[in-house]
Amino acid sequence: MRRVEDHPSRRAFLGAGATALAAGLAGCEPGVTRPEQRAAGVPPTGRHQAGVALPREAQPHLLVVVADVGDGVAVGPLLADLGAAVLDLAAGADARLLGLPPGDLTVTVGVGPRLVRAVDPALPGAADLPAFAHERVVPQARGGDLLVQLCAGDPVVLPVAAGALLARAGDRVRERWRQSGRRGSTVPVNQEVSAPRNVFGFVDGVVGPHTAERQERDLWLAGPGPVAGGTLAVLRRMELDLARFAALPVAAQEAVFGRRRDTSAPLSGGTVATDPDLNAKTPDGRYLIPADAHLRRAHSAAVGVGLMLRRSYSIDEPSPGLLFMSFQNDIRTFTSTLTRMENGDALLPFTTTTATATFLILPGFDRDHPLGAALFA
Ligand code: HEM
Repeated sequence: MRRVEDHPSRRAFLGAGATALAAGLAGCEPGVTRPEQRAAGVPPTGRHQAGVALPREAQPHLLVVVADVGDGVAVGPLLADLGAAVLDLAAGADARLLGLPPGDLTVTVGVGPRLVRAVDPALPGAADLPAFAHERVVPQARGGDLLVQLCAGDPVVLPVAAGALLARAGDRVRERWRQSGRRGSTVPVNQEVSAPRNVFGFVDGVVGPHTAERQERDLWLAGPGPVAGGTLAVLRRMELDLARFAALPVAAQEAVFGRRRDTSAPLSGGTVATDPDLNAKTPDGRYLIPADAHLRRAHSAAVGVGLMLRRSYSIDEPSPGLLFMSFQNDIRTFTSTLTRMENGDALLPFTTTTATATFLILPGFDRDHPLGAALFA
């Protein structure tokens, strides 16, 4: 069993080299995370919480729990307790893990707009997501005060760790909904990135802020101070109309996305690692990437926003689909993209969104800097 003290938490938290140190500990040099590296564990401390950019290749299993915080509950102490529980869980030092090795478990905690607004309505993360088309969302599955995202290579660890966290929170929180997800085997995109196929058979997660430089620009919040090092998460649980999509000829399926199904190359040519050329046309003047292709409608330059880090998981309960998850430092990256998709994305009519929420993912923490302390002092 690893002990809590094994984590060089203070050093990892303090500024320069923190990311490099964390990446080194996680065995996350550029390239695909190997199973033996996963087993080494992912440091829960640092400038950012784990489970967003680290591990570089998302673990195969996920459980998210969305909960509300009771009226009058002191949010600061609640988050501090949750953060302490996360450190114990990652170290295998929580009795409620029942001796299960945590392996590469990561726990990522976010707070919903209601709690952020109570601190300062001008903060990132203070706004609810608007309603969009193709939604069928019961009130219970819209919004929420608290996100706990758990990811691991071992699916059995997830509900047990979630149970430990909920027990630590006690009657201060009330669960709204939870969702399990999984990612299949991944396809290498380049030296740094690999991505899994979704239930439509297409590789999902190719384009994103995958370099440290892009992550500073588009993923992590630079400020204001209490949220610096955090990010904004969007969760959208979608049913996908598998029967109707599978009935399409492969070329029509590819036209929906704007990529080849087998190689994932954009329809404008090249390989999976090639940037799509939105201007490329056939000799008779038709776009190679159709006007309503998902790749074109969601393209960051066409939308005029930064890159979102998509880290979605496939689901089969309550019905086959996708738990879309994106992380970005400006909520407009998501809202403007989906708005542009609503105006003519061939993929959207195959989707029905049944849960939707956004959360401020709190900055990183350690034993000396409790989770959420900068925001909920
Ligand atoms: C909430 C709705 C969604 C948003 C905001 C969104 C966003 C994005 C973005 C920004 C890209 C990259 C486009 C580019 O710059 O080339 C993309 C690509 C892609 N999306 Fe989506 N997407 C959504 C829903 C879905 C759904 C429901 C699926 C699967 C059924 C999906 C599968 C893909 C695939 C396969 C690609 C191409 C490969 C890649 O770039 O990863 N997306 N999406």
